[in-house]
Amino acid sequence: MLPMLSEFLLTEMNRLGAQDALPLHRQLYEALRRAMLDGKLGAGERLPSSRDLAQDLGLSRNTVVAAINQLSVEGYLASRVGSGTYVNESVPRALPGRATRRPGAPGGNGSVPTGRLSTRGLALSTTFCATELEVQPFTPGIADFSAFPLTLWQRLQNKHWRMTYPDMLDYNDSGGYAPLRRAIADYLRVFRSVQLDADQVIVTTGTQQSLELCARLLADHGDTVWVEDPAYWGAVKAFMATGLAIHPVPVDDEGIHPGTADDAHPPKLIYLTPSHQYPTGAVMSLPRRHQLLSTARAHGAWVLEDDYDSEYRFSGPPISSLEGLDNDGRVFYMGTFSKVLYPGIKLGYLIAPRPLAAAFKQAHYDLNRPGQMPLQAALAEFIEMGHFSSALRRARQNYGERRAALLDALKPVLAPGTEGPFISGAEQGLHLCLRLPATVDDAALAQRIAQQGLTVRPLSAYCLARHDLKGLVIGYGYAPLREIQRCGPVLAAAVRQALGTLPAEH
Ligand SMILES: Cc1ncc(COP(=O)(O)O)c(C=O)c1O
Repeated sequence: MLPMLSEFLLTEMNRLGAQDALPLHRQLYEALRRAMLDGKLGAGERLPSSRDLAQDLGLSRNTVVAAINQLSVEGYLASRVGSGTYVNESVPRALPGRATRRPGAPGGNGSVPTGRLSTRGLALSTTFCATELEVQPFTPGIADFSAFPLTLWQRLQNKHWRMTYPDMLDYNDSGGYAPLRRAIADYLRVFRSVQLDADQVIVTTGTQQSLELCARLLADHGDTVWVEDPAYWGAVKAFMATGLAIHPVPVDDEGIHPGTADDAHPPKLIYLTPSHQYPTGAVMSLPRRHQLLSTARAHGAWVLEDDYDSEYRFSGPPISSLEGLDNDGRVFYMGTFSKVLYPGIKLGYLIAPRPLAAAFKQAHYDLNRPGQMPLQAALAEFIEMGHFSSALRRARQNYGERRAALLDALKPVLAPGTEGPFISGAEQGLHLCLRLPATVDDAALAQRIAQQGLTVRPLSAYCLARHDLKGLVIGYGYAPLREIQRCGPVLAAAVRQALGTLPAEH
């Protein structure tokens, strides 16, 4: 290995070991990351083999492999079969423009100076940044906010501002406005089979804050979190921000599927989207749910259940929450108002197991200084008066029609029962996944589709450590029905062309 590089890595590791008492693999991970961000290991440069690194640094090979795996998961390194591991061309990546960034969108482009950020700050602002996406037909993750009953909402907000008394303007230490917590508890008990009372509800600014709170209070710096592979980037970023070691566990048709190799990375946290895996849409089967809960029990791990879009279930049997099966008090359940109301409302909820609810409220108060009581009061009334249910009913109807039109348009490209394209995850939510044969370059296909004024995302871009999944993540929430009817065949033609079943001029 280059003597200068090994010297740098050893110096950094010594510093980190003395300063933070991090385990060796974490020290090496931080040191390699710093080397890349400082340009000591340039984009495209080949990393010394794990054997050489281990020898030069006096470490075990397992320690080196653990650090390299983590950096690969986070997008710093890429492996090329037969030729080693390289620094990704996109390190460091710069922030994209703000206007069109969407959570959950992988990638990143553009260029801004990163200044004198911390190592963590650099990583957070330069990797896994949302791409600069046009919001246009099929962009996943976007609901149609034009249907939101704005006038009614304004009236309710005005009413609650008029009724506001000084206490309502203060920070709130009770986990949120009591009638809102009661309304959320009633909804979850009936519709999601969550076992709870209102005291366990903590109103947050959304899933992102719920995840950060769990990561901070349930795990220590360097602890391992299992995440689904492919994954929701918002969650990955929350775990990066809190200094956790991210261990990807593959997902199949029945949800996350940990094997014995994963047990070698014992988790403190397991993050899941069991009702509609993001982004494949897999529904976690009942046997898998029981298995997962007993794996969590065996490891003494907490389970973080992100139930982000269960309000929109279109077909198949109703899916209850994983929390409902938990007899052990180890599942933290979280939901959001981003999808049914609008993302800018910045309201979601975390359900903490009963024995931990008070500690979570206390820490939430001290870390986040929650407030927004008049907004929470307006939302409580919105739910209590049945407006939430009506908005949901209307939205379900609208999205259901759009989903049906998209499924219709995609029919000609499907080849069920073969290696050919099939659809996963269409039973629920605002997106589906068109799965493609592993030989298809889904990123190139998504780019070609973008030239037609449509936005889909390649499934491979959500993968952390695996290379076998190809497909397109397609949203039907944003565009009106007639747009989906018009653009669906264009999308289908582009897919068929990529699969070689349609001449280029079609
Ligand atoms: C898997 C998943 N979880 C949660 C969210 C929403 O989180 P928030 O409440 O932070 O808006 C999204 C939004 O796209 C998502 O895709």
